[in-house]
Amino acid sequence: MVYYFSGTGNSKWVAQELARRTGDEAQDIAALIKDGPTAVYAGKDARIGVVFPIYAWGVPTIMERFCKSITLAQGAYAYAVCTCGGSAGNAMKRLKRFFLWRSAWSIMMPNNYIIGYDVDTPEEVARLKQDASEKIDSISKKILSSENAYDVSEGKGAGIKTALVRPMFNRFARRTKPFYATDACNSCGQCVRDCPVKAIRLDGGKPHWVNRSCEQCLSCINRCPQKAIQYGRGTASKGRYFFCDSM
Ligand SMILES: Cc1cc2nc3c(=O)[nH]c(=O)nc-3n(C[C@H](O)[C@H](O)[C@H](O)COP(=O)(O)O)c2cc1C
Repeated sequence: MVYYFSGTGNSKWVAQELARRTGDEAQDIAALIKDGPTAVYAGKDARIGVVFPIYAWGVPTIMERFCKSITLAQGAYAYAVCTCGGSAGNAMKRLKRFFLWRSAWSIMMPNNYIIGYDVDTPEEVARLKQDASEKIDSISKKILSSENAYDVSEGKGAGIKTALVRPMFNRFARRTKPFYATDACNSCGQCVRDCPVKAIRLDGGKPHWVNRSCEQCLSCINRCPQKAIQYGRGTASKGRYFFCDSM
C-alpha cells in the first residue's frame, strides 16, 4: 500500500504513479482518517510506502501522526517519498525516528507555496514533471527489489532548518486568520470539499476558516476556480498552482 497526503496534487500523482508501477494501491490518508484515528499494521512480508509534500523542511503533522500509528513487523519493507519545491532539510531523517523506513527519496515538483514565492512557469512545470516521471521509474525498480536507499535533496543548512524553522512554522505560520474570500467567490464550495482537515465551512455562502490553524496545504487558495481566496496581502499578485495531468 502507498499512503499519501497531498494539498495540490503533486504527492497524489507521485503516489499513484508509484502504485501503478509497483502493483500496489494508493490511499489518501485524509480520507482514511476522516472519521477518526486509524492504526495500520504492516506484516513481515508487507511493503508499505508513504508519500507527502515537504512543509518548512519537515513532514506535515497529519502525516507524522499517521506514521506514528503504523506498526511495522520485522521484515516489512517501508519507504518514504517526499515531494518538494527545493529542498527537504532533515525531514526524512527525523521521520525515521518513528517510521523505520529502509529507503527515502525526494522528488522535485512544482512549488505550491504561493505565500512565499510565485508559481513556476509552464515550461518549468513541464520539465519538473518529466524529470519526476523518470525518477519515479527508477524509484519503482528499487522498491520492487526492496533496496535500501537514501536519495534526498537536503539542501544547505538542513539540520538548522528542520530543527529551528520547522517548529516556528508549526507554531506561528499555520494560522488560518489571514485567509479570506473576495467578492469573486461564487459559493461553489470547492474549498470546503477539498480541505483535508475540514478547516473551512460555508457561512452565508462564503468560506470561513473555522479552525485556528490548519496544515497549510494551500489547496483552498490554489484550487479556487475563481481565484477568490487570498492569504494576507501577498497572494493577490501571485499565480495559482495545482497538479494537472495534461501539463
Ligand atoms: C506550507 C508549505 C511549506 C513548504 N515548504 C517547503 C520546503 O520547506 N521546502 C521545499 O522544497 N518545498 C516546500 N514547499 C513546497 C511543496 O513541498 C511542494 O510544492 C510539494 O510538491 C506540494 O505537494 P502537494 O501538491 O502534494 O501538496 C512548501 C509548501 C507549502 C504549502
